[in-house]
Amino acid sequence: MRLETKRLFSTLDISVEEVRGLIDFARSIKSGRAKVDLFNKVCALIFFNPSVRTRISCESAMARYGGHGIAISPGRDTWNFECGERVVMDGNTQEHVRELAPVITRMCHVVGIRKSELITVGSDKADVTGSYAELAKDEFIHRFAEFAEVPVINLESNRWHPMQGLADSTTMVEKLGETRGKKYVLTWAWHPKSLPVATPHSQLLSAANLGMDVTVLRPDGWALDPEVMAAARERTEAQGGSLQETADIGAAYSGAQVVCAKAWGSLDYYGRFEEEAKAKAPLRKEWVVDTDKMAKTDNAFFMHCLPVRRNIVVTDDVLDSNSSAVIDEAENRLWTAAAVLGALTS
Ligand code: CP
Repeated sequence: MRLETKRLFSTLDISVEEVRGLIDFARSIKSGRAKVDLFNKVCALIFFNPSVRTRISCESAMARYGGHGIAISPGRDTWNFECGERVVMDGNTQEHVRELAPVITRMCHVVGIRKSELITVGSDKADVTGSYAELAKDEFIHRFAEFAEVPVINLESNRWHPMQGLADSTTMVEKLGETRGKKYVLTWAWHPKSLPVATPHSQLLSAANLGMDVTVLRPDGWALDPEVMAAARERTEAQGGSLQETADIGAAYSGAQVVCAKAWGSLDYYGRFEEEAKAKAPLRKEWVVDTDKMAKTDNAFFMHCLPVRRNIVVTDDVLDSNSSAVIDEAENRLWTAAAVLGALTS
């Protein structure tokens, strides 16, 4: 399989047919029916934020199929990078994307970038000053791609996480077979931090790309980006699916075949995290995925992108049950990474 696009910022950059092609390719690689050729290919992986699955899936895919992945962490083992236009670089940044992107992309065949302002480790306070609208422009990856000479993959930005979405789609096809007519619930979960909306946006598209009947279950005040909702609606309705939003937990779980949980921060409270924490405090217990809620479904399986906080987002009983698909979902990060890397470099 070959992808013509030079940018995979979200699965909206490719057609539904190409999404289906990548899922088929990933499943064929997984089963040994297809080979992906990454021989002598080099992938640069620029991680501004921590990662387990994304980094290891890409590095493992490159290594297994004859290529090599080089991961770097800006500011820790490289220079600090700048992407502003006409900026006077007298601060803490040493290299501009106007040089960085062509230099890296003359040495490598494909580049992956993770840069999300809301991902933090070791602190409950996100260090964010910009508005969501400003951060959702994902300026660094867009500017990098502007000056890049090879394909650029988004490994999670402020707005999208397409590699997670593709792994989720692959997992649902694997477990459900025909996905049209199946009910997919993306449920908000309480979390001590204000997490990014990139993953739920891409998970929403993971089901929309498959033409599923999608329900976004979330409290008032935690709506996803309206442009993303509109794009997801258009994709799923074009294939006979549907999209609805509700705050009614019982109605949402009822009849579901897939329950995907994700915590995300409120766009209404963006940057006012202490106010958000107060507003969501009463929601803490009610929104946990537990066996009582799963019992309302049509034998649904449970998905989560991981890492997950046990007994905060989902109970041990659900996570450790046969209905949990989280390990298969994480494994599919490898096969979808191999498919994407192969399709972009062939
Ligand atoms: N789900 C996911 O992207 O995991 P990592 O943050 O560990 O890469």
